[in-house]
Amino acid sequence: MQIRKATGFANSNIAFIKYWGNRDHALRLPVNDSLSMNLDGLHTRTTVAFDPSLTADVVALGGQIQSPESSKRVSDHLDRVRALAGLKTFARVESENNFPTGAGIASSASGFAALTVAAGAAAGLALSERELSILARQGSGSASRSIPSGFVEWKTGSNPDGRDSFAFSVAAPDHWALADCIAIVSSAHKEVGSTGGHALARTSPLQQARIEDAPRRLNLCREALLARDFEKFAEAVEEDSTMMHAIMMTSRPPLYYWLPPTLAVMDAARKWRANGLPACFTIDAGPNVHVLTLAAHASDVASRLRALPGVQNVLVAAPGGGASLINE
Ligand code: PMV
Repeated sequence: MQIRKATGFANSNIAFIKYWGNRDHALRLPVNDSLSMNLDGLHTRTTVAFDPSLTADVVALGGQIQSPESSKRVSDHLDRVRALAGLKTFARVESENNFPTGAGIASSASGFAALTVAAGAAAGLALSERELSILARQGSGSASRSIPSGFVEWKTGSNPDGRDSFAFSVAAPDHWALADCIAIVSSAHKEVGSTGGHALARTSPLQQARIEDAPRRLNLCREALLARDFEKFAEAVEEDSTMMHAIMMTSRPPLYYWLPPTLAVMDAARKWRANGLPACFTIDAGPNVHVLTLAAHASDVASRLRALPGVQNVLVAAPGGGASLINE
């Protein structure tokens, strides 16, 4: 058999309504539905080559060959693709993020989405968008949302095997000219990543209330998004982010991701909004703050963020497209 190779591309995404906690850890089936926006310009490009001469998978991230321990999650994902394709061949994986590594931007969403698209095609599978989303989800939950284009909703589903837990587009990237201004306040590697965090979520006595209220928040957010109502959107987004962080801080053991500049950015965004500038914050499993605004105000928001003490850098992203294959 000859070498079979393909290259995939996927943008990262930011959740407006967050995924935190699994109903099935192995399958990465979430406890609640989530809603996100793909981030144009913050992407991963991954080439997968199934090569019969290899005796193990070889994974390079940003040109650096990874140890077998740090390649395990990628190898496990390749195993899922090999099982679907009836393939036994090992693969060489070369993956590059175009955003600075260590900038505190989660790369698992774009990374596993790009890997899924590339590995599926290299293995000769013709997968639909839904099948790609289901497969990407098993590598990293949020990766399911980087497969469809634009503004995306991911359903938890009810089937124990996860066949109805996939993401789909609710609006195209050009539906609303939002901008995500990402204030980098730390590029340190986090001690507890999202996989560990999802497992702790159920230890918070607040998690059940968060899950029960999630459909209300998601409906509010989706309606505001579809109606392009920034004020309503801002309230739903900030409430949902803070609720997820309340779970994190009340888990056993607790997870504190915020640093002093995180709070300074949150405070600034709320004050700007109270003074008429469309801006709101949302924070993932780390200290950096995503300040969402309208494209027309993005450069103003970015320069105000840069002027805040503790903000090291600001990246700006518009709504992005879905994952795709790259013809070489
Ligand atoms: O896909 P994971 O396991 O990296 O989880 C992502 C979790 C959050 O980024 C905190 C929230 C979300 O919905 O993206």
